[in-house]
Amino acid sequence: MKIARRVFPLLIVLAMALTASYAAGKADIANGKRLFNDPGLGGGTSGNSCNTCHPDGKGLENAGKKNRHEWTNPGGKWLNLEDTNNVCILMAMKGKPIDPKGREMKDLVAYIKSLAK
Ligand code: HEC
Repeated sequence: MKIARRVFPLLIVLAMALTASYAAGKADIANGKRLFNDPGLGGGTSGNSCNTCHPDGKGLENAGKKNRHEWTNPGGKWLNLEDTNNVCILMAMKGKPIDPKGREMKDLVAYIKSLAK
């Protein structure tokens, strides 16, 4: 009983720590790549995925570089990668912008950054 009273709170703390670290967890490059190939991203209706126009990320090798502060796509010039991606979703995929701070965007950005050499 005494042991249980000591062990149980420890287990709770451990579970909370694990949950917190999962929530703040690292972006998932493999999932980003999957989204990059998904024509349904953002509810896209054009049939295009990112990969249709940027096959295997071709042409985006510089997009994820640390020193980038401006991006260009057919919609115009943008000051962050999230907006740039969302404009491509909006215009090129006929979808709706995804949450710029959400998990999908984090994973997508992580995939694009992984293309930078
Ligand atoms: C119908 C074609 C098309 C689709 C689909 C498309 N894009 Fe683009 N995108 C372009 C064109 C054209 C440009 C401007 C020229 C270039 O950089 O290739 C561009 C530019 C970009 C840039 C800026 C590159 C830079 O270095 O400034 C990013 C980032 C980008 N696209 C990401 C995406 C992502 C992510 C998706 C999917 C959610 C996507 N695009 C879907 C056509 C498309």
